[in-house]
Amino acid sequence: STSYYQEKYRPQFHFTPEKNWMNDPNGMVYYNGEYHLFYQYHPNSNVWGPMHWGHAVSKDLVHWEHLPIALKPDENGMIFSGSAVVDWHDTTGFFGGESGLVAIFTHADEYPGTDKPRQRQSLAYSKDNGRTWTPYDGNPVLAEPRIIDFRDPKVFWHEDTGRWVMVIASGQTVSMYTSLNLIDWEFVSEFGDGEGSHQGVWECPDLFQLPVDHSTDKKKWVLLVSLGDEPDVEEGSKTQYFVGEFDGKTFVNDHDSAKVLWVDRGWDNYAGVTWSDLPMASGRRVFMGWMSNWRYAIDTPTSTWRSAMTLPRELSLKTTREGFRLIQTPVPDIESIRNEGQTFEDMELKSGGNLFKGLKGNALDLELDLDVTYTGSVRLGLLQSEKEETVIEYDVSSSTLSFDRRRSGDASFHQSFAMTQSITLNVPDGRLKLRVFVDWSSVEVFGGDGEVVLTNLVFPGEESLGLELSTDGTAYVHKARVSPLKSVWKQV
Ligand code: FRU
Repeated sequence: STSYYQEKYRPQFHFTPEKNWMNDPNGMVYYNGEYHLFYQYHPNSNVWGPMHWGHAVSKDLVHWEHLPIALKPDENGMIFSGSAVVDWHDTTGFFGGESGLVAIFTHADEYPGTDKPRQRQSLAYSKDNGRTWTPYDGNPVLAEPRIIDFRDPKVFWHEDTGRWVMVIASGQTVSMYTSLNLIDWEFVSEFGDGEGSHQGVWECPDLFQLPVDHSTDKKKWVLLVSLGDEPDVEEGSKTQYFVGEFDGKTFVNDHDSAKVLWVDRGWDNYAGVTWSDLPMASGRRVFMGWMSNWRYAIDTPTSTWRSAMTLPRELSLKTTREGFRLIQTPVPDIESIRNEGQTFEDMELKSGGNLFKGLKGNALDLELDLDVTYTGSVRLGLLQSEKEETVIEYDVSSSTLSFDRRRSGDASFHQSFAMTQSITLNVPDGRLKLRVFVDWSSVEVFGGDGEVVLTNLVFPGEESLGLELSTDGTAYVHKARVSPLKSVWKQV
């Protein structure tokens, strides 16, 4: 008998494929009440190989239903990353005047008779809510032989200019193209030379508008760019962002070009992009990333599946003294799977005590709101046993949040994995706010208002369920909540 979603390390409320290898989220689009998630998928093995698009749908971004593979390698090559849109007004002519879904993705193969990589952009369409897909018979629709790394098209409708816009990785830059029908594309601009980080090949861009400080009229454009793994970069692959203006053709960075802004300060959030076609009125922009790192992704000790996605996160922008910063908030629907937990309110936590003593779990939603004015540091221990623990610590005098996974469990599968890291988190008025999600093999930390996020994998044993909240002085607990979360997967 099969038993899905009960294997060692198996996430209970994050998206994972039933079995085999997954990387980037692809083609995320909302249509007829369903959130579609496609993903880079190798259906025959637990490591990367000829890429397909796996497929799942959800009505709430929390519970997912697996669907058959949507796209598979064909005479134009493997199916690399890309996006999907609703063609509301049948600009393509694929839908006989109705609306339908169009996927825009990279076909990857080699120039005939050589081993030189060839990456060209293609289309596929679906007339039945994404259940079946037809590759366009004019594929590929966009080729650029001068650029080797030319992939991961993200397409959206630009209202003001009445055109489709494609942003696509082009080596160490992104290029913008426009189109009236998704088939014929015109190059309009390139961005990236001398901007941000160039520590790795640029991949998986996304470009969208976000409200600033929850305002209804002030908006800025955000450009996400992932950076591939390079051996001399300590943290492996990661994702940066830019904030600026976009007029339908050209993106202009508002910030100092040398300043690098990271989407996530943890090591395990890569190739993330956002959902297309969410209802405009909702003003929502929801992001999801691949919860792994090219440095060690093929070595992680899971079977028969490999890799999970991050929690879906709502994005917004906040004005700070240093400029605009991305804010991430887990989607509120996650609250629907909370079991009754424990909440501590309005009390003192003194040195020597463990507020979470006796509490246990490895599928948890934790919320901390502490006054740390009269203490040196606060320690949150997760997934503890005698031998193992994952430690999150806040040091008040240096305003640093650290994450230590050196003793988190199995960390021996790759030499880069057993790391500890430290980042700045300012706590205005001494108020430390953390929201933390634990899902057996991952920990996501949202600091402050969500301006600092750490997403890290861990591989603790099944007995490592202990929790600790302690301090070396006196911390005031405005609120400390520990809620177990239910599995969203049907267990067969
Ligand atoms: C990013 C990436 C993409 C590519 C895909 C291939 O993780 O390298 O650039 O399209 O993975 O699976």
